[in-house]
Amino acid sequence: MIAIISILFASFLAPEVSAAIGGDLNCTVYNGTMFVWTPAAVACQNTISDASCAILYPTTDTLGLPAAGNAAGRPLACYTTATVTPAAVVLDMKTAALASCPKTCGFCCNTDAFNCKNADYPRLNCATITNSQCNSPAWRNIIAADCPSACGFCGQGGCVDAVTNCGNDLSICQNIGMQSFVNTYCQKSCGRCPSTTTSGYNNGGGSCTSYVADSSSNCASWAKNGFCTNNFYTVDQRRARCGSTCRIC
Ligand SMILES: *[C@@H]1O[C@H](CO)[C@@H](O)[C@H](O)[C@H]1NC(C)=O
Ligand SMILES: *[C@@H]1O[C@H](CO)[C@@H](O)[C@H](O)[C@H]1NC(C)=O
Repeated sequence: MIAIISILFASFLAPEVSAAIGGDLNCTVYNGTMFVWTPAAVACQNTISDASCAILYPTTDTLGLPAAGNAAGRPLACYTTATVTPAAVVLDMKTAALASCPKTCGFCCNTDAFNCKNADYPRLNCATITNSQCNSPAWRNIIAADCPSACGFCGQGGCVDAVTNCGNDLSICQNIGMQSFVNTYCQKSCGRCPSTTTSGYNNGGGSCTSYVADSSSNCASWAKNGFCTNNFYTVDQRRARCGSTCRIC
């Protein structure tokens, strides 16, 4: 009874029904109840100003614009010429939205930065990487090397700044006292990426250019079962058996 009353009460309080995500489902995931936006849907910048995008791609949804985890309908002009849902996808409209306002339209996951091949045996599960991992100094270089498509790191050659604001003051690259910091945290901005490999990071986040050879012929199948990331084995044990497959320096 209480449940029924609270449902009635809730719908009384919120008479405007928000639209569900429909039409083009790219960059969404079904969460068990409904389609919601993935973090990658909005993890990029518009190429023109957000204010201009808001005018070009106005939303009529009470939930506002697409955001990670919400179910706001995609602004119609992002993918269709129709003015009411259900609306058919018009590819021209989507192409234009992708080029100018991918964030406003929840299309970031369709941009080039999110579309490349991940490593065959990534050291972490590429499918469950969160937005906070994409921004974490502890994870960014491992993700860039192993799961670039998860964070929009495609085209970066497997190397990004581990902290996101290195570019604000490039004088730190020349600062004698900052060398060990920039070598670890500002590889991209300061030109310290390893040059001979696109995925030369060991489990400690340092850089190397070659790996110890595998001593087992089972490494490929072990790696599929998570051997490379399994903390049950020490890094030394993993290196000794499958240094190359696991890419441990
Ligand atoms: C994603 O977009 C492409 C066109 O860019 C379309 O062909 C495809 O059907 C869309 N996928 C979903 C799940 O809506
Ligand atoms: C799915 O997402 C919606 C909108 O964020 C939320 O209200 C709902 O609880 C979620 N369902 C599950 C099962 O997580």
